[in-house]
Amino acid sequence: MRYQAPRGTQDILPGNVGEWQAFEAAAGTILTRYGYREIRTPVFEQKELFQRTVGQETDIVQKEMYCFKDRKEREFALRPEGTAPVIRSYIENALWKERQFQKLYYIGPMFRYDRPQKGRYRQFHQVGAEAIGSLSPLVDAEVIALMGETLRAAGVKRTILKLNSLGDRESRNLYAVALKEYFALREKALCPDCRRRLDTNPLRILDCKVPSCGELSRDIPPMEGYLNEASRTHYEQVRHWLEVLEVAYEKDKNLVRGLDYYTRTTFEYHHGELGSSVALGGGGRYDLLVEECGGPDTPAIGFSLGTERVLLAASQDRGAGISSGRKESGIYLVWLGEGALETAFKLANSLRRLITVEMDPENRSLKAQLRQADKLGISHVMILGEQELAEQQVQIKEMATGSQEKIRLSEIEDYINTRIKNTAVQ
Ligand code: HAM
Repeated sequence: MRYQAPRGTQDILPGNVGEWQAFEAAAGTILTRYGYREIRTPVFEQKELFQRTVGQETDIVQKEMYCFKDRKEREFALRPEGTAPVIRSYIENALWKERQFQKLYYIGPMFRYDRPQKGRYRQFHQVGAEAIGSLSPLVDAEVIALMGETLRAAGVKRTILKLNSLGDRESRNLYAVALKEYFALREKALCPDCRRRLDTNPLRILDCKVPSCGELSRDIPPMEGYLNEASRTHYEQVRHWLEVLEVAYEKDKNLVRGLDYYTRTTFEYHHGELGSSVALGGGGRYDLLVEECGGPDTPAIGFSLGTERVLLAASQDRGAGISSGRKESGIYLVWLGEGALETAFKLANSLRRLITVEMDPENRSLKAQLRQADKLGISHVMILGEQELAEQQVQIKEMATGSQEKIRLSEIEDYINTRIKNTAVQ
């Protein structure tokens, strides 16, 4: 029996994990500078949470959730996204009591039963941020800028920012009526799902992936015409502050996003290489969600970036993906002869408090051990044979220069701290 990773999932192998760590660390640093704090929620939640928030009529809920019942017949779903869990936690833990304006971020796997292809997986990863507790358009602009900065830190250069506003509840409802009228006249050309959506949620038609529905959506009346005064002003302000921050954007009247909870601002970052149906990330305002989930009336806005897509785009833009960072210095401890084993074994163990130490667990030849050290790309080799042991010293060789010296066993720690630890391996 040969086992395989489930379709649409992938192993992040040691050779690639460096770019993941570098991206997540860079994102964490930027998010922290903007005042966001990390939150970790479970990878599964009550199924109903997503049905209620992401929306019953969305593809995510209709077709893409991984649902299961536990032994007590309770219904759960692997989280398809991170916003609903964060809001669930925000309410459950009354986080507004701790801070009126909560800025939270998360990093982790999400699950959607999507059709796997380049940039589309069944387990994928998001870096997401949620700013909960302000309606100010400054926050919209800042969140969008922050998303752009995170992409820049990942080495993604050629981004296109798409922007729209769905308006507040009143404007959204007005627009839904207008869309219903528009599509009702063209009902025959709609797919069966969208014919149903015509009654339940006409905005969802704009997000349908069936080509004929996409065709019809192209000529819809622009949302902007249905924005009430407050929503229009808010949208203007968001654009004003984006311009102040010198964030370039394109207006996109069809940008409704694939989740139901959005109001007012919606946005997506795209990349030429990935194609228009595969966004690097997206987000928007969701001013009604906290209240709908049983919390206080609290406006909020957030975004998520898809890590796989970001790394893909970064590798296109930089040629080699995000740098996995500077390689640390390290030591390969070569031991020769059974007599040196005990000292070498103890030495390796204690030196690891200071530095990376590799040691051959087999009793192999000097040549074989040196070859291994070379293969691992380690900065220094330390040789401890029976003769060195008798002299209470080791030989240390810097691989890059070939320079070699003898150091007393009692002085090794000092030598590592002063001479080795600062040597970077390229
Ligand atoms: P979303 O647009 O559904 O939004 O997902 C955000 C990003 O996750 C996408 O742009 C994409 O990069 C990545 N993504 C989604 N599905 C897949 C997939 N099957 N394979 C690979 N990557 C994928 C949300 O999830 C919202 N929670 C964003 C948000 C946060 N809105 C407000 N706050």
